[in-house]
Amino acid sequence: MKSCKKDLFCGVNRSENREPEKMDALEKKHTPVIDAPDSVSKGEKFKVKVEVGRYKEHPNEHDHFIQFLELYSGDTFLGRVDFTSENMYPFVEFTVKLNHEHPLVAYEHCNMHGTWKSFKKDIKLK
Ligand SMILES: [Fe+2]
Repeated sequence: MKSCKKDLFCGVNRSENREPEKMDALEKKHTPVIDAPDSVSKGEKFKVKVEVGRYKEHPNEHDHFIQFLELYSGDTFLGRVDFTSENMYPFVEFTVKLNHEHPLVAYEHCNMHGTWKSFKKDIKLK
């Protein structure tokens, strides 16, 4: 769903469709995808991969590129990676340790198409 109607730079953009085949091209290029375990041990380190462009490659040029990726646990900010164009790609592996159980959420920002949110990735703490 595009927030603020057709203004991509107002609010946060989200795909209404979780299935990639139902996404439009803009959604495929911008929706961050989170790969993480379904459950982890409380207080132990684990890997979380976040990728933009899995379903359709996003351009990576000086005038159109992904500027940053951020990872949250619920509303809690976990980390951020900034990118330059052409030499860097928005594929990130975070090392995370959680003490509270909230879904993981990622955000990315495209200089031409605004901020986009991933689908929530539920993660259970053992
Ligand atoms: Fe874009």
